[in-house]
Amino acid sequence: MRVGVLTGGGDCPGLNAVIRAIVRKGVQEYGYDFIGFRDGWRGPLEGETVPLSIPAVRGILPRGGTILGSSRTNPLNAEHGVRRIRDNLAKYEVDALVTIGGEDTLGVAATLSDDYGIPCVGVPKTIDNDLSATDYTFGFDTAVGIATEAIDRLHTTAESHMRVLVVEVMGRHAGWIALHSGLAGGANVILIPEQRFDIEQVCAWVTSRFRASYAPIVVVAEGAMPAEGEMILKDGSHDSFGHVRLSGVGEWLAKEIERRTGKEARTTVLGHVQRGGTPSAFDRWLATRFGLHAIEAVRDGDFGVMVALRGTDIVRVPIAEATARLKTVDPALYAEVGVFFG
Ligand code: F6P
Repeated sequence: MRVGVLTGGGDCPGLNAVIRAIVRKGVQEYGYDFIGFRDGWRGPLEGETVPLSIPAVRGILPRGGTILGSSRTNPLNAEHGVRRIRDNLAKYEVDALVTIGGEDTLGVAATLSDDYGIPCVGVPKTIDNDLSATDYTFGFDTAVGIATEAIDRLHTTAESHMRVLVVEVMGRHAGWIALHSGLAGGANVILIPEQRFDIEQVCAWVTSRFRASYAPIVVVAEGAMPAEGEMILKDGSHDSFGHVRLSGVGEWLAKEIERRTGKEARTTVLGHVQRGGTPSAFDRWLATRFGLHAIEAVRDGDFGVMVALRGTDIVRVPIAEATARLKTVDPALYAEVGVFFG
């Protein structure tokens, strides 16, 4: 049995831990061969491979990024994409493909598996934690830790100058990173994509924080939008899955807060720092367990499924079901956290 492995979409801490677990268990327990495909779906599409063996995965557990490379290539948009993938899998004698990715990468795996009979097993990953079928994705805990540390640091500089500090974190469609890091870091305002914000209300929270003689920290997810107004966040470019790239809500907020409250404001955009570097212990644990269960699914010939965390158990769910709907922040949860605003 030869198993192909690919990592697609935005990289995230823990990808290497999954690859290591798959290869270690696959070789040691089942005697499988492995082949890596380079840069997500681009690998099987173009036939670009990376050797994958126990020596190749040695020492990668604590390393961020992915030894296989990643991309946002959507093979379903490429000419004869499915046929080219099928041909390359046959050329490299691949019997099963483990696809590690987020909504987009796994969406392709679901189509290839369900509609074209290409044997895929999915492993969910995203720092955004927005996949509905799993309680958590690895990468999220690390990203929240990085954002929380940044917020802790920004408190002291904000207090020294009595300024507003706006922290823009990742999250195009879901505000999980903003919510968790904002709560953990003691932010005074948290803004998420799920709920449009009222800039007047934001300024009222900011002002009340100054009144209590503290400097406010505003955490905003990159996909958050004002209830009304002319804010232009899109720079016009799209990735190959059609997502519009966002930019600027943090900068926009700082300017509006300054204009409306007369208080000095600065913005820190955390950007890809949230995705880089070594995974947290929790993410290594989760990623490793996902890898172990994914290769078990391959052994069982259980294709078209994705491994998922439910409570403390790893379960299998249809990939198509897992990618059908994003997991967004529930209004009740957001309201619960709102007690700390202002
Ligand atoms: O989906 C993960 C993610 O990090 C999002 O939070 C973010 O909006 C996006 O990827 C950024 O994508 P890119 O690295 O392609 O700019």
